[in-house]
Amino acid sequence: MKTVSVLTCVFAAVSSILAQSIEDINGKWFLSPYAGQDVTNVTGVVTAKGPSGIWLRSLEATNDKHVSGGIYVYGKALAKNDSIATGDVLVLDGKVTEYRSRMDYIYLTEITAAKVRTVLEHNRTFAPIALGTQRSPPTKLLSSLDGGDVFKVPNNQSLISVVNPILEPNKYGLDFWESLTGEIVTIKHPRAVGRPNQYGDTWVIGDWATTGGNERVGLTLSSKDGNPEAILISSPLDGTRNGDDGKIGDRFEDITGVVTQGSGFYQIQPLTKLTVVSSLKPHIGEPTTLTSDGTCAGVTVGSYNIENFSPGDKVHMNNLANHIVNYLNAPDLLALQEIQDNNGETNDGTVDSAFTLSTLVDAIATHSSGSVVYNFTYINPLDGQNGGAPGGNIRNAYLYRPEVLQLQGGRDAVVGDAVTANEVLKGPKLKYNPGLIDPTNDAWNASRKPLVAAWEVVGPKAEKHKGKPKPLFTVNVHFTSKGGSSSLHGDARPPVNGGVDKRIAQAQTAGAFVAEILARDSHAHVLTIGDFNEFAFVAPLQTFAKVSKLKDLDDVVKIPATERYTYLYDANSQELDHAFVSKKLRKGAQFEHVHINTWLAYEDMVSDHDPSVAKFNLC
Ligand SMILES: *[C@@H]1O[C@H](CO)[C@@H](O)[C@H](O)[C@H]1NC(C)=O
Ligand SMILES: *[C@@H]1O[C@H](CO)[C@@H](O)[C@H](O)[C@H]1NC(C)=O
Ligand SMILES: *[C@@H]1O[C@H](CO)[C@@H](O)[C@H](O)[C@H]1NC(C)=O
Ligand SMILES: *[C@@H]1O[C@H](CO)[C@@H](O)[C@H](O)[C@H]1NC(C)=O
Ligand SMILES: *[C@@H]1O[C@H](CO)[C@@H](O)[C@H](O)[C@H]1NC(C)=O
Ligand SMILES: *[C@@H]1O[C@H](CO)[C@@H](O)[C@H](O)[C@H]1NC(C)=O
Repeated sequence: MKTVSVLTCVFAAVSSILAQSIEDINGKWFLSPYAGQDVTNVTGVVTAKGPSGIWLRSLEATNDKHVSGGIYVYGKALAKNDSIATGDVLVLDGKVTEYRSRMDYIYLTEITAAKVRTVLEHNRTFAPIALGTQRSPPTKLLSSLDGGDVFKVPNNQSLISVVNPILEPNKYGLDFWESLTGEIVTIKHPRAVGRPNQYGDTWVIGDWATTGGNERVGLTLSSKDGNPEAILISSPLDGTRNGDDGKIGDRFEDITGVVTQGSGFYQIQPLTKLTVVSSLKPHIGEPTTLTSDGTCAGVTVGSYNIENFSPGDKVHMNNLANHIVNYLNAPDLLALQEIQDNNGETNDGTVDSAFTLSTLVDAIATHSSGSVVYNFTYINPLDGQNGGAPGGNIRNAYLYRPEVLQLQGGRDAVVGDAVTANEVLKGPKLKYNPGLIDPTNDAWNASRKPLVAAWEVVGPKAEKHKGKPKPLFTVNVHFTSKGGSSSLHGDARPPVNGGVDKRIAQAQTAGAFVAEILARDSHAHVLTIGDFNEFAFVAPLQTFAKVSKLKDLDDVVKIPATERYTYLYDANSQELDHAFVSKKLRKGAQFEHVHINTWLAYEDMVSDHDPSVAKFNLC
């Protein structure tokens, strides 16, 4: 014991004499071992200057890949001091500070209250670290604290800021970017995997290995792959602005910038703005190849979250009508989500949406020169009970082609109401057609209640088939949103998945209703389709599949895992919209995701979701 205390003494004595290197300050952890302490004679070359501080790099090259040789020195006086230039070698004193602007972010280690003692040299050269050659990010896992699954439930089981794990930059993406924080780096041949946000911040990959890549250069999210190889390019240091009209797949000139942490993400602040060198063509996805046969042998069903749709927005209306006619081939049945009431977000107690839907139907008729005339059905919610934009009263609805489909029971079908739970009767058939599933269940509080309907094929062509085809039961869902989630780069591990418990409860309720239909007839045609606001591999959808006994239509038709996306969020192509089918619907089923929004620039998007179209044999 004596030896140990002597050694401790020696170390203490030494460390109080020695100046701190940038490596000492960063250490091999997320948090600095010097956090909150004063440091002296920190020596480094200025690699970049920003509006509020400067970046320094240690003069000795670091060999330890766990430890960054760069650091941010916060201070407007330094930033604005024209006699301090890139290439200056500074010796400074200051205080090591861990900074974050919000509780749920990872901290940035920086030096504050810096005082320059001396400028040892000017015009010292330094080479940015070449990402893709000298260092490359891992491609799957983000953090050791995620237990191998970034979407594991329960989430928020630990915090990086508390555990402060030793960095493992070869394995974990957050560790990799943390091990470069403060450094100056270059990316050759960068290309966008996301679309810029309103500030022009853009997610890119460079010339390094990636996993989960889709045909559009994007990165598709999966349970064991949170895409740590993508990095956000944020505000340029020279005061220029990145464009906000970029698209997934855009290629840029090479980027040089500093690695930092802010707004919940590791990011690179480039020296100057991104320059687009090329964009992918065609700029919009192909229309669906699926068309209705007009008979029970080939019925098409689409689903589309049309984002806060109100009759007042004529541009939105026309764009949607164009999508439905020209890109979805006007499916026989269209499950819509986010239909607002007749006066949109005016919050005056209006709940009906007949005008909203008839305006859309008229626009579709116009776009198809009168050849597509949909009928529609929906149930009004109680005012303010469905969540979404206040006053909008969003709900699910169906458009259907009356020459191909009618609600089972035709004129005798009884439409349900906002508070009455639908029931599965002998047949099976529905007590209310359409009706809502268990609308007063807490699971649906401040959320959209699933709209369940039963359909039968009509018309002379239908009668050619022997016997009467079974009805098609459809459940149109719009589960609770992921609002309140923390970022994939955030402090909480696994990241907070906002609303996940609610979605599990919703999956149970909707799934149980489907199971009742199948309990009456295991050969029933049952389709659940819509915006589940969740990925197939996360607990709510696994619950839904288990309880309902329906199968994910992506699996049935074997869409490659990387092409399963209907949404683009941050760096990640992802699937929030799904279809699940009963056994009887699987044979010959077809399914396509139609990328008419995810590929587009923000300005050109008609909705934040891509629609999907399926085709089934109901004979
Ligand atoms: C810092 O450097 C100065 C010379 O610039 C020296 O006098 C002083 O002892 C150094 N302090 C430490 C703690 O190394
Ligand atoms: C700018 O930096 C130089 C070098 O450290 C220093 O001598 C000078 O006082 C600074 N000027 C201001 C206005 O802080
Ligand atoms: C630094 O180099 C530039 C040219 O690259 C030169 O104009 C400048 O005078 C040099 N500054 C010093 C302080 O040596
Ligand atoms: C995550 O957990 C931490 C404590 O471990 C807590 O402070 C924080 O509020 C949690 N975040 C959410 C969104 O639940
Ligand atoms: C449209 O649906 C309504 C009920 O929602 C029904 O009364 C009407 O007959 C339908 N029209 C056609 C053409 O099927
Ligand atoms: C329903 O949700 C609202 C809004 O989120 C909340 O204020 C209310 O307490 C919830 N009610 C129940 C019964 O959970």
